[in-house]
Amino acid sequence: METDKIHESRLTLTKVQIEICPLCGGTGWKTVVTSEAGSADRRVTRCDCQLRARNAALLAAARIPRRYEHCELGSYTADFPGAHPSLAHAHLVACRFVEELDPRDGTGLLIIGQIGTGKTHLAVGIAKELILNKGLACLFYDYRELLKEIQNSYNSTVQASELDVLRPVFETEVLVLDELGAVKPTEWVWDTVSLILNTRYNDNRTTIITTNYADGSSAEADERHGVRRLNRDPTLGDRIGDRMRSRLHEMCRVVKMEGEDFRQKFRSASFR
Ligand SMILES: Nc1ncnc2c1ncn2[C@@H]1O[C@H](COP(=O)(O)OP(=O)(O)OP(=O)(O)O)[C@@H](O)[C@H]1O
Ligand SMILES: [Mg+2]
Ligand SMILES: [Zn+2]
Repeated sequence: METDKIHESRLTLTKVQIEICPLCGGTGWKTVVTSEAGSADRRVTRCDCQLRARNAALLAAARIPRRYEHCELGSYTADFPGAHPSLAHAHLVACRFVEELDPRDGTGLLIIGQIGTGKTHLAVGIAKELILNKGLACLFYDYRELLKEIQNSYNSTVQASELDVLRPVFETEVLVLDELGAVKPTEWVWDTVSLILNTRYNDNRTTIITTNYADGSSAEADERHGVRRLNRDPTLGDRIGDRMRSRLHEMCRVVKMEGEDFRQKFRSASFR
């Protein structure tokens, strides 16, 4: 028993020793020497290990669901037989978005497409790149899950207040809101989604959204379908309100993804 403990503490010690950064010796600071016109200049800066640790903490805090943890822009492919051309285009837009993102500008992406076209994969891939390569704070939320958490906060036995849930959603540099519109619209749902989107819009914060609903306003779709309007497919305008849909167009660049359900097509392939 006692020997086990000693053995265990030796193991821990070895692990700590191995983890000490060779660049900074664990201090978090490193000296950079630059030489200009024959004279050497020594400066002390934050060590890379600190940046890596910060980014790893950001990734852990991003709430990316386990099912999507493996999703990266690099593992997304538009190169398979029958791939719809919109997929390669969407991938290109995603890569450029990561490269060119200016967090002060606030323009996000509205990724629209049918079931299984790879919307969530692409959105998670973007978030991971932004965290690991740009050190930006990102937060992933499934729309249904977010609304449920807010609703739960009204329950007096739950500790978290509405603002506890909403503050990080308002303030994170990049928000991924997955499956926008997937909750049956009610007055409360509309008010809540307006509060979230308007707050982020007013603060110029970047939002990446995915949705299965076709990008159309409720009013236009009703007009187009005339007497058949009761049987038409719901649009994004029907689900989040025409005003919010129009606001989204100001906040985001639209990316359309078409094609078959990737899950059906590659059920047993080596893509996962
Ligand atoms: N082009 C692709 N390259 C590699 N993997 C893909 C691609 N498209 C989809 N996948 C994989 O297929 C699965 C389904 O994709 P994903 O969940 O992103 O689709 P979705 O459009 O978000 O679907 P839903 O509308 O149901 O939310 C995931 O495991 C994802 O990693
Ligand atoms: Mg999805
Ligand atoms: Zn270091």
